[in-house]
Amino acid sequence: MTYIQNMAMDAKPVVANEGTVTFRILRGTIVGGKLVQKTQDFEVPYDARTTVLSALEWIKGEIDGTLTFRRSCRASICGSCGMYINGRSRLACKIKVIDLLSGNEHKNIAAAKDGVIEVGPQRNQPVLKDLIVDIQPFYEKVKALDPFVQDGAEKEEHVNKNSFEQVNMVSNCIMCGACYSDCTAMVENPNFFGPAALAKAYRFVADPREGHKTDRLKELSEKNGIWDCTRCAMCIDACPKGVAPMEAIVKLRSLAIEAGMMNTIGARKSTSLKGEIEDWGVVNEPFMLLRALGPIGALGQIGNALNLAKVGKIPSPFPFEHKPEKLHEISAIYKELKENPLDVKTRNEDTGPGAG
Ligand code: SF4
Ligand code: SF4
Ligand code: FES
Repeated sequence: MTYIQNMAMDAKPVVANEGTVTFRILRGTIVGGKLVQKTQDFEVPYDARTTVLSALEWIKGEIDGTLTFRRSCRASICGSCGMYINGRSRLACKIKVIDLLSGNEHKNIAAAKDGVIEVGPQRNQPVLKDLIVDIQPFYEKVKALDPFVQDGAEKEEHVNKNSFEQVNMVSNCIMCGACYSDCTAMVENPNFFGPAALAKAYRFVADPREGHKTDRLKELSEKNGIWDCTRCAMCIDACPKGVAPMEAIVKLRSLAIEAGMMNTIGARKSTSLKGEIEDWGVVNEPFMLLRALGPIGALGQIGNALNLAKVGKIPSPFPFEHKPEKLHEISAIYKELKENPLDVKTRNEDTGPGAG
């Protein structure tokens, strides 16, 4: 009997046990319009092939049929089994119990604390029941960015292989929400479009067939868009399909600046930072603040500056105090980039249609 047949018949996740492991599941239900959550422990048998999803199936089949979670393909394709597992958002069908117990450096998994596997619903989204979150807001954000190629004046005649590869990379997204769940900017600002929607937006800006690239970049440069990302890289770590949403956001920022969209704090901060590193080799934060916010905006930050000064963290406004010894090396990199600019979309030298 195959493993799959075994699962289908009696929901047992194992053929030969290696032991049992504690699954600590954060369960939740809505009572009187409010979410009430509590953890519940289950002892689950496992072997080398047991995934978190098959363990959950076993709990549901053998112990508690009310345990609620989404799943469909069991093969990291449909994106429906996204959950918060041992401190990170992951696909339950892709993560093996033994990797969680022993840790797996190659898969970027740390060993479970006390041998317990903790499973909860994804973050940054309202919980509906147990491990199920309301994915409507996540999808609404993608929808708001018009996720389809539009005909228009900016449509290119030739399809460049490099840019097509970029489109392909982002097209690997399975809308699992792992990046959205781990996104630090979402915690502070639930209206932020989030990594998946912005990666999807990049897919259309980078598509040579798109006819409204500039309009898209303008919209993406507004509040809750590309400049609200904190560049924490959590989305790159979380994504099970290698989409690297933060990379897509950085490329969108570069394209917006290239298109002259400087009317945002983020764009001004970014170009100021670039200029300071070129001139001084270090970032001068007081100057950067002044350039990004203007004199009045910078004055509004005096309270923060005083708080930083109190703990000895206020940087010197005189960059020459920290001028690095090898500034000429930094200058050489800038010179090289000016003479041989990289293609923003691909970060490769772009030699025209068919390049790469
Ligand atoms: S890099 Fe940006 S989009 Fe990605 S998780 Fe961090 S804040 Fe969110
Ligand atoms: S970008 Fe990656 S983590 Fe985010 S929804 Fe798509 S597949 Fe999931
Ligand atoms: S069940 Fe489809 S991705 Fe996990």
